[in-house]
Amino acid sequence: DGDVYKYYSDGEWKKSSSGKTVSIINPTTRKTQYKVQACSQEEVNKVIDLAKSAQKSWAKTPLWKRAELLHKAAAILKEHKAPIAECLVKEIAKPAKDAVTEVVRSGDLVSYCAEEGVRILGEGKFLVSDSFPGNERTKYCLTSKIPLGVILAIPPFNYPVNLAVSKIAPALIAGNSIVLKPPTQGAVSALHMVHCFHLAGFPKGLISCVTGKGSEIGDFLTMHPGVNCISFTGGDTGIAISKKAGMIPLQMELGGKDACIVLEDADLDLVAANIIKGGFSYSGQRCTAVKVVLVMESVADALVEKVKAKVAKLSVGAPEDDCDITPVVSESSANFIEGLVLDAKEKGATFCQEYKREGNLIWPLLLDHVRPDMRIAWEEPFGPVLPVIRINSVEEGIHHCNASNFGLQGCVFTKDVNKAILISDAMETGTVQINSAPARGPDHFPFQGIKDSGIGSQGITNSINMMTKVKTTVINLP
Ligand code: G3P
Repeated sequence: DGDVYKYYSDGEWKKSSSGKTVSIINPTTRKTQYKVQACSQEEVNKVIDLAKSAQKSWAKTPLWKRAELLHKAAAILKEHKAPIAECLVKEIAKPAKDAVTEVVRSGDLVSYCAEEGVRILGEGKFLVSDSFPGNERTKYCLTSKIPLGVILAIPPFNYPVNLAVSKIAPALIAGNSIVLKPPTQGAVSALHMVHCFHLAGFPKGLISCVTGKGSEIGDFLTMHPGVNCISFTGGDTGIAISKKAGMIPLQMELGGKDACIVLEDADLDLVAANIIKGGFSYSGQRCTAVKVVLVMESVADALVEKVKAKVAKLSVGAPEDDCDITPVVSESSANFIEGLVLDAKEKGATFCQEYKREGNLIWPLLLDHVRPDMRIAWEEPFGPVLPVIRINSVEEGIHHCNASNFGLQGCVFTKDVNKAILISDAMETGTVQINSAPARGPDHFPFQGIKDSGIGSQGITNSINMMTKVKTTVINLP
């Protein structure tokens, strides 16, 4: 009936006084794999109180000591990659190898964050007054970056470890405390990751992890007056959070509809390889997945043939077997994807493979001749189904990309770098990749979405800066 896990508060593992648990369904077996505590609002109040007081002394802990603890946590995380990866396989059906990669990448992120933090937080500014009209050199201004306080971190199911540490590590190095609310699918992987921070020896109360039902503690957490910043990655919920949150900094990444624009002179083998990697890795359940291909009509037949040949080679099955395509995270997600596929079928899209589904497992599907009246032209499937829209001009491609309510990343394939840069400038997205599929990493690169894709910029350096505020002291000379 599933192992029951405790939540983490005050440096200890606890059972919720609610006496209730939340079940985590294994996407592959569709049976309960684990159970986590359904924390109550009182328990949330408690962790926020603890986070508040722990933060005060943490902010006074020397930066190099904070960095040292983060390096320790990073090493422990990497040592525990196997059991954490196993949870990722069971909870979110991430292919076994990718699951290990997620944990290792997370350890690297934590270490990099510690290094970057000591550099950028080790520097302040010194200003003098006589550069502004009417002033003598009688005022010296010292600036430094100070922590925000309590950071609420809410990562999504697709990277429950990596997108948690990408919030936790910048917050901690900058002198903040952390309250983590992991996604239900992925909560046990997150709890294991938190255990690594526990083993590293961070002060009690500085890091907490509360699990539970969104309906019970979701709004309560995001609207809590004790929270000084929210870093959220996920879906539409982020829009609701931003409307309800108080006057605090928000960092949000809310999905995308990343376009892949293919010009006539593109290297079609390179494009096909990137469409497979970009569109189908982790079964399309990445915010940065290629979610629509916009290809010039003259090369469309050739490209579709190449992609079809590669789709045929994708292995489909269990994450334990490290298959390329694994069950999507939940039955409702599979039903949503199916809805988009059936709508496209009804409206006349060409199916390059037969549509096949067993439980949550959906076989990879390329849909050619998709038109703008089909839902899949605009909506984000978060599954292994990819629409191809044939275009007659580059402008048509850019227009489709910019008509989307999303603006996370995009990519353009051409051998003409000048053209690529002009197209990149015209695309209203946070990032454009030239001759490669969209991706967040390397993790120190800035990562941001515009429009409904989010607020603020992430990436290690930007996240550290975002989780601080500027403090100035002015010395007035006689
Ligand atoms: O939220 C970002 C995530 O979904 C994509 O990250 O590293 O797969 O590009 P990545």
